[in-house]
Amino acid sequence: MKLLVCGGAGFIGSNFVRARVGEHGDEVTVLDKLTYAGRKENLQDVEHRFVHGAIEDPSAVADAIAGVDAVVNFAAETHVDRSISEPDAFVRTHALGTFVLLEAAREHSLRYLQVSTDEVYGSIESGSFTEESPLEPSSPYSATKTGADLLVQSYSRTFDLETVICRGSNNYGPYQYPEKLIPLMILNAIHGDPLPVYGDGQQVRNWLHVSDFCAGIGHVLAHGTSGEVYNVGGPDECVNLEVVERIIALTGADESLLTYVDDRPGHDRRYSLGSEKVKALGWEAKVRFEEGLAETVAWYQENTWWWEPIRSGDYREYYERQYGSSLG
Ligand code: NAD
Ligand code: DAU
Repeated sequence: MKLLVCGGAGFIGSNFVRARVGEHGDEVTVLDKLTYAGRKENLQDVEHRFVHGAIEDPSAVADAIAGVDAVVNFAAETHVDRSISEPDAFVRTHALGTFVLLEAAREHSLRYLQVSTDEVYGSIESGSFTEESPLEPSSPYSATKTGADLLVQSYSRTFDLETVICRGSNNYGPYQYPEKLIPLMILNAIHGDPLPVYGDGQQVRNWLHVSDFCAGIGHVLAHGTSGEVYNVGGPDECVNLEVVERIIALTGADESLLTYVDDRPGHDRRYSLGSEKVKALGWEAKVRFEEGLAETVAWYQENTWWWEPIRSGDYREYYERQYGSSLG
């Protein structure tokens, strides 16, 4: 296939492009704005065509979309804490950007896959969300992602555009920017820095290895029914505190680094996704959390070339803003 992958220089997007080019022999064009989270180094070992631009820019989209068979949209602002401190870009990218992409897909009659998140459902105390669960997003991140999903569905119903939506649970694995829980804790543990746990640390996340999410997206792209939503959830749930304790054990860091800090406003307590619909398409998660976390810790330990420039750049300023006062 010839694919346009928007946001392909980010964490999940770059893992997806590597798999599509390496395992499926696809020809891929990446359209990416290269925000702080988008890095050309993530794709330095993968053959692809690169277009530098924003999904909300119709001329960049027109350049990137020429000649492709389908569009897969990963492009997004993805960190919940940043959506609380600086929500503007979330609204622009998720609302306007998705609209511009949908218009282009419609003009070229292309199949369109939107990469979405379990956070659109909000928090669940027990049981798991299905695709029929009500949408109750808590943060500006998840609210704007929800808006994008609804816009995608409106293009299917109103204009007969071929669309599918994949809602993933918390991903982890190589090339994840260290603002997110797992890479942040791994790098802080390696450096002997405090490990900042929000609130009581009893929140639960449903961990999905990035290779499993990419495979699920591939299944839905190939076999999903137009107009439908597919949840892609990880095989294991884990309380945040236990995630941090496992990272302490895997890195040999000192337990005393664990530091409780103020909770995130509007913090969702638990996510859990039922994935029966995508399993019926033949997908199943292959990587259990224990094994995937150990591999991920090893990847960060071995790939200092990847994270050293990040830790010494803009990330420092973000880290000071987000954690400075609570970590002293
Ligand atoms: P990321 O932050 O690592 O990467 C996002 C990419 O999008 C970056 O390359 C960035 O430069 C690019 N981008 C941002 N705004 C853009 C714009 N306006 N135009 C073009 N490119 C732009 O994110 P990620 O974790 O890889 O997430 C990818 C997608 O998967 C997102 O849509 C996210 O909502 C979704 N998702 C993420 C997770 C997770 O746990 N990380 C789980 C479920 C769904
Ligand atoms: O569920 C899917 C979502 O997972 C994606 O849609 C988002 O793009 C992705 O960022 C992620 O959102 P979370 O908010 O769940 O991930 P994050 O890594 O920010 O936090 C995971 C949990 O860890 C959450 O309960 C908050 C907590 N946390 C996070 C950080 C960064 C801490 O306790 N301390 C921290 O320093």
